[in-house]
Amino acid sequence: MLDGKKSLFSGMQATGNITIGNYMGALRNWVSLNEEYECFFCVVDEHSITIRQDPAELRRRARNLLMLYIASGLDPKKNCIYYQSHVSAHAELAWILNCFTYMGELSRMTQFKDKSQKHADNINAGLFDYPVLMAADILLFQSDVVPVGVDQMQHLELTRDVAQRFNGIYGDVFTIPEAYIGKVGAKIMSLQDPSKKMSKSDENPNASIYLMDDPDTVMRKCKRAVTDSEGVILYRDEQPGVKNLIDIYSACTGKKPEEVVKEFDGKGYGDFKVAVGEALVSIMKPIQEEHARLSQDKAYVDGIIKENAEKAAYYANKTLRKVQKKVGFPERIR
Ligand code: TYM
Repeated sequence: MLDGKKSLFSGMQATGNITIGNYMGALRNWVSLNEEYECFFCVVDEHSITIRQDPAELRRRARNLLMLYIASGLDPKKNCIYYQSHVSAHAELAWILNCFTYMGELSRMTQFKDKSQKHADNINAGLFDYPVLMAADILLFQSDVVPVGVDQMQHLELTRDVAQRFNGIYGDVFTIPEAYIGKVGAKIMSLQDPSKKMSKSDENPNASIYLMDDPDTVMRKCKRAVTDSEGVILYRDEQPGVKNLIDIYSACTGKKPEEVVKEFDGKGYGDFKVAVGEALVSIMKPIQEEHARLSQDKAYVDGIIKENAEKAAYYANKTLRKVQKKVGFPERIR
């Protein structure tokens, strides 16, 4: 709760290009929730440097991502869209929360295990501590709701545990956040290996569809999507590739999986894949056009970045000051 209104926070990393998984699992739901809540949508650039980044590329991607938030339908007058690194309270609260989080909790995080395997030459303390910074992001804004894909649930559970622990010692300081997981699209799988999630950093370029892919590329990737030899379009675990394509189609069209199954009854995989590609292109095209328009309007985007960082800092600092007082830091002399 912030000033009597329910609040919501979510974020995305600026590492790699945004996939349709990110869009369907998160971004799409953000747009539908923004009437009800005071919303904060952050480009989490501080999280991104837990993996080595090229500075110019990170800056470019972060700006592109911020513009994608807007292009996907988030009105920057109604939603606070900003860079994490512009609000120092994130890092400051993370430090305090570090002292309330146990090593054992962090070492159980599957994302840490996965990423340390993938980046064995750079298992830095930031990678380990990543979920605490995420907890700080969420708790700074007294978030009631955090719309994320399924893969972030474990981090959200940790956030709740840390917040409850802190509140248990110091009284009601933090709102305890709930996850918001969409009905469809909460876990879009790789098109090449439907047993793993679609990821920005997949080495196989055919595994992920990026939100900025052109129509030919989208169609080609859909046509190459791995299915099976069953030859029927059914929504069931035994056909993970087809199930994933149904999820994608459902998320694009708003139709329920059962309706999609009915629609393609008796049709072959070839037809279905083309329909999935077309459905994707029709939602991606307006986003890409708006993104291109924003890329040309530097002054407008800069204005949003400046204004929203100030707004985010105002709310974040309110919580931070409260926490600092609770833990016993000396009062500021004005
Ligand atoms: P990130 O950048 O990996 O992903 C951004 C959002 O996209 C969702 N997502 C998916 N949803 C469905 N299918 C997929 N294949 C898929 N891949 C990713 C993620 O669940 C996420 O919602 N740690 C976070 C970023 C973060 C954050 C936060 C999120 C930092 N602080 C505070 C919420 C609140 C992350 O790495 O997301």
